[in-house]
Amino acid sequence: MGFFTHLSLFVTDLDRTLIGNGAALDRLNQILAAYRHDFGTKIVYATGRSRKSYQDLAATHQLLTPDALIAAAGTEIYIGGATQSEPEWVNKLSINWQREQLVAIASRFADLNPQPSSEQQPFKVSYYLSANVVSAALPELQSLCQAQQLDITAIYSSNRDLDLLPKGGDKGRAVQFLRTHWQIDPTETVVCGDAGDDISLYEYGDERGIIVGNADPELRLWHELHRVSYHYLAVAEYAVGILEGLQYFQFVS
Ligand code: GLC
Repeated sequence: MGFFTHLSLFVTDLDRTLIGNGAALDRLNQILAAYRHDFGTKIVYATGRSRKSYQDLAATHQLLTPDALIAAAGTEIYIGGATQSEPEWVNKLSINWQREQLVAIASRFADLNPQPSSEQQPFKVSYYLSANVVSAALPELQSLCQAQQLDITAIYSSNRDLDLLPKGGDKGRAVQFLRTHWQIDPTETVVCGDAGDDISLYEYGDERGIIVGNADPELRLWHELHRVSYHYLAVAEYAVGILEGLQYFQFVS
């Protein structure tokens, strides 16, 4: 196995990105484990799931232990084996976050169905919202929030999930936080995703971005509208798509 470009930080979404093809996941795990052993590459999972829900997933799938977990759609960062989210991140997200006020506004919308309580987190309020009412409901929700000076980010993905987060609390900002924490250059960083809640991963820096071949239309559309040489839309799906992208960027031969 010949390495061309140094990979310092590997970040991936889990459901339908890293996970989806068991044999390919095993192969990718071997490559990443070798990379980590030889070069100290950091491995990070960036998921919409809560930490508990991630642990449930990890109990039933062969996943490498990550160097950090970005959970709850970017609003929680667990470095190493930490059981608490990074205090600096918590402090940053606490500024101007009025969770109860936000829940009260959202409760006025009959189309917003709260997700299970296990997915409601201190800095994440999540609903199910059907695709045919998004374009009506979302702008109205956002303008009500604005009127009450609530500075939030609303992320709709997979034609189903609506996450309401503090502004600046998404997966992409969490990756920027970790890059700064570990002093890693964006050109030595890879981010991988498949859906609308992954768009922020590609938005802020010039990290090398892999979009797996099974990506949702919202991420494909975003990619088409924001074409740059350092984002790659793979043909193959799931972990095979990630491997294809790692080869494209010459991180692996
Ligand atoms: C995961 C979470 C869900 C969230 C979605 C998108 O499915 O369980 O709460 O809405 O990711 O971030």
